[in-house]
Amino acid sequence: MNTLSSLEYWNKIGSTKEFEDPLYLEKLSPYLTQESKIIEYGCGYGRMMQILLEHGYNNLTGYDFAQNMVKRGNQTHPHLEINLLNESGKIPVPNESVDAAIMLTVLCSMTDTSDQAKLLNEIWRILKPNGLIYISDFLICENERYNEMYLKGFQKFGKWGTYLTSENLVVRHLSSQALFVLMKNFDIQWFEQFDFKTMNNNPARTFHCIAIKKSHELSDKVCK
Ligand SMILES: C[S@@+](CC[C@H](N)C(=O)[O-])C[C@H]1O[C@@H](n2cnc3c(N)ncnc32)[C@H](O)[C@@H]1O
Repeated sequence: MNTLSSLEYWNKIGSTKEFEDPLYLEKLSPYLTQESKIIEYGCGYGRMMQILLEHGYNNLTGYDFAQNMVKRGNQTHPHLEINLLNESGKIPVPNESVDAAIMLTVLCSMTDTSDQAKLLNEIWRILKPNGLIYISDFLICENERYNEMYLKGFQKFGKWGTYLTSENLVVRHLSSQALFVLMKNFDIQWFEQFDFKTMNNNPARTFHCIAIKKSHELSDKVCK
């Protein structure tokens, strides 16, 4: 069975899906004003941006790498600014120009650790001093069903937590340790994990996290 590249998947199959992951606005709003400049990375069809707009946040820009997802967003929410990225992981905004970045269920379809780290460094670059990231994604599940899938994924892709979905997308769930390494340039303010579900209604473990940009210069080679 051939795997689909992440971009192929999000253009062909993923762009027809409905997403339901929550955004815990009551946790986020104390850090924001209504004018805060907020970007959403991997914004899909603008579901979260619409929720933010309805709560009075009016300086919103979304980015996604899948043309069909952006097209759907622009049709469904023509009043929102949803942009197609030229390049995955490169956000076309100046250094230190954004108050908050939101990213929900994007890392799970980036299976390469260094791509994930580069993206977190890119978000660090665009955030103002004390800017924040709200990130949510999937954690490794400790149960028989996932253990079997992770084992097959490990044999094929060499990383525990990686598996092939029934729709041929390679997905990666993170260990909390791997997540905290990714977040090393941010000070975590809030972190919770819950039982939730995937977009295909399979049970899964999700985390939500708010973290503030650390002020030091990035020393990590991958950010240069
Ligand atoms: C599960 S959807 C979630 C969409 C949105 N965050 C929401 O919660 O409604 C994942 C989104 O991330 C986008 N995505 C995946 N990998 C990406 C990448 N490397 N760069 C930019 N967008 C990406 C997909 O196109 C898709 O729109």
